[in-house]
Amino acid sequence: MKKLWMFTSVTLILVFTLLVAGCAGGAKGVKLALLYPMTGPVPTYGQSSQEGSELAIQQWNDAGGLLGGDIEWVVADTGCDGATATDAANKVIDQDKVKFIVGAVCSSASIPISEISNPKKVLQISPTSTNPQVTVGKPYTFRACFLDPFQGGVVASFAIEDLKATTAAVMYDKGNDYVLGLAGYFKDAFEARGGTVLVYEAYTEADTDFSAILSKVADADPDVLFLPDYYSKVNLIGKQAKEKGISAVMLGGDGWDSADLDWSAVEGGYHSNHYSPADPRAVVTGFLRDYEAKYGKAPDALAVLAFDATNVLLEAIKQADTTDTEKVRDTLAAIEFEGVAGVITFNAEGDPIKTAAINQVTTEGIKFVKWVKP
Ligand code: PHE
Repeated sequence: MKKLWMFTSVTLILVFTLLVAGCAGGAKGVKLALLYPMTGPVPTYGQSSQEGSELAIQQWNDAGGLLGGDIEWVVADTGCDGATATDAANKVIDQDKVKFIVGAVCSSASIPISEISNPKKVLQISPTSTNPQVTVGKPYTFRACFLDPFQGGVVASFAIEDLKATTAAVMYDKGNDYVLGLAGYFKDAFEARGGTVLVYEAYTEADTDFSAILSKVADADPDVLFLPDYYSKVNLIGKQAKEKGISAVMLGGDGWDSADLDWSAVEGGYHSNHYSPADPRAVVTGFLRDYEAKYGKAPDALAVLAFDATNVLLEAIKQADTTDTEKVRDTLAAIEFEGVAGVITFNAEGDPIKTAAINQVTTEGIKFVKWVKP
């Protein structure tokens, strides 16, 4: 009887110890969700972003992890739309119990995610969503990139000052937060600098034949044609514009950045971007070397910003020394971090102030033209 009692208490103590150790073990390390467009119209954005984030995580884990454990991560597909993004955010928060989100890419995905993450105090950082609405009034949402009012102004002044344009046409997807916003910011800036917008025409995501709008553009014969959409649509519109004999210089924003941009469709055009390999800083050359070694190719801006966004978030968790999202948020809000795409410090909305690059599309590829500071 005594023996049995001894045995039972030893077992109880053992079970208790294991339970406590198990709980403490569960609190070790950090889990992130990477919410990116793996399917839908812009899959190269998702692939590049996942690669950039995973390189960052791997480097942290190789250096010993974070908060006493390995960094774990889940990837969920946002597409480039609100419904898919909402499902992805609900899944990683409710099922995977993730408290930190890196994503999304498309503003139209990041905005609905931010509306889910904020009431739940889940900390979100978008690497690349440039529409102002992503962070406005959302204390738990940050971003690692410049915003579209700045980007639209950069392209408009480049058109007027560098290309000596006086007239423009603008074509935009009225159902896409990013495209609609950027079209308007460009128009406002172009007109404010004395230019005239001769054609300002909307289409929808489903459209593939742009001949009606392009006829108006051909008749107006503007100096520049601004196409603020993603690469898949820009490829279609650019090709049809060239076939119509439109000679306006095509201009675009960060959405043109893709290995699948059709150089011949927009040849001679220019677009703004977040980063250029022409930047000589050591963080840039180190990143280029590591990315090339892991993936066997050069990174685009999406990979760069996903790397930066993941790193700045992990650095804030490290400095706060906790996964308490309120404390990590406060640390992030005050951080100064040297990223590959420039130094990150956040304003009260959670937005950084950053420099843009202008690139030209030639038949041999993308050429860096110049930097534009805010
Ligand atoms: N800025 C785009 C958006 O907000 C996303 C994007 C960023 C696309 C960078 C390409 C490169 O929707």
